[in-house]
Amino acid sequence: MDDFVMRQGALYCEGVAVAALAKRFGTPLYVYSQQTILSHYQKIAQAFGELNPLICYSVKANSNLSILRLLAQEGAGLDIVSQGELARGLAIKVPAQRIVYAGVGKTEPEIAAALQAGIPMFNVESEPEARLINHVAQRRGQVARVAFRVNPDVDARTHRHITTGRKENKFGLSIPLVMDLFRKARRWQHIKPVGIHVHIGSQITSATPYIQAIQRLGQLIAELRRQGFVIEYFNLGGGLGIIYNEERPQTANAFAQAVIPLIKPLDCRLILEPGRFIVGNAGILVTRVQYVKRGHLKSFAIVDAGMNDLIRPSLYDAFHQIVPVNGTRRTRSVLTDVVGPICESGDFLGKNRHLPALQSRDLLAVRSVGAYGMAMASNYNSRPRPAEVLVAGKRAKLIRQRETVSGMLAPEAALLKE
Ligand code: LLP
Repeated sequence: MDDFVMRQGALYCEGVAVAALAKRFGTPLYVYSQQTILSHYQKIAQAFGELNPLICYSVKANSNLSILRLLAQEGAGLDIVSQGELARGLAIKVPAQRIVYAGVGKTEPEIAAALQAGIPMFNVESEPEARLINHVAQRRGQVARVAFRVNPDVDARTHRHITTGRKENKFGLSIPLVMDLFRKARRWQHIKPVGIHVHIGSQITSATPYIQAIQRLGQLIAELRRQGFVIEYFNLGGGLGIIYNEERPQTANAFAQAVIPLIKPLDCRLILEPGRFIVGNAGILVTRVQYVKRGHLKSFAIVDAGMNDLIRPSLYDAFHQIVPVNGTRRTRSVLTDVVGPICESGDFLGKNRHLPALQSRDLLAVRSVGAYGMAMASNYNSRPRPAEVLVAGKRAKLIRQRETVSGMLAPEAALLKE
């Protein structure tokens, strides 16, 4: 599953002791395993190998430039949702031909920048968006290729905040609306519909909702072709679930075996947009215990990482395993809440955990935070965001400097002088 292992009572990332990284780079610290990232990318690439898909890694899951470059070197494309993510792709020189652009709220400058870069396709989510893309492309003397994102109204059976393919969600277009847009686009000179996109949610642990979605879209594609439209691309989005604790998600292989027989007859180039599956298990957040408070019912370990560094537990009630970085002879298990320093009751990393009796300065690792960890970190409570380190074998490389207090203040402090 990943390359974080206990050896003689100490947690290692590949060949490097995590405690040594904490000493060298400080805490809180995100640590990633290159091997885990690459092996997960390869698992998808191999499982779908016979279809030769374009795998567009979903930048929002973890947008660190070094990680993007690593994946691009493996042949991955990128799924982006903003001009900032486009800039990240261009910064690592991924060929623009491998970038697809999703999101419900693309602005005019964002559309222009993506057209300028020469991306092959926008994933379009509404009629006004299609009209704006047509308009911007006309002004630039270009033709924008688009896939319409369908909302197939299937239940992905995941957390309500990360399900996206139900009719009550803001994402995508109903099947009748997509048909309508294909027809309207005949009159729009600067838009060329070339595909169908769908993304039904995230952390999906079974192939069943995907199968339902593909069946619905298969009918749509057949109908569109009957009406003379050419559908070259089928984009299945992302969403593959991973193991955080006791989940039993399908493997990439089992998933591919379940969906390939349905995708093949569509006779389209397949695009996939995995995020969490590639980087989720590949990262840990290393944090140091500041104080331990013993309460009546349980202990509170107050650590130096908070909800600003990792918001998933607060926002989604997400469970992340928390383990001591160094084994300890303290065998007694104590019911512990691992909480941050932020002034909110929602500021916790884990609740009711059975941990050895902790002491100040102990190190803990919060596991499987490679996806939507650092990417969702903020400066709440004016806390500089953590550093990030990428480990490959016995080598550890800083891939994002720890923010400094002065750097954090700079955009405001400069204005005090005016
Ligand atoms: N494609 C589209 C259009 C998306 O919106 C997303 C994620 C992905 C691909 C990648 O999905 P993945 O393979 O990572 O499941 N912050 C939440 C997850 C939000 C997902 C948003 N969209 C979390 O921490 O669980």
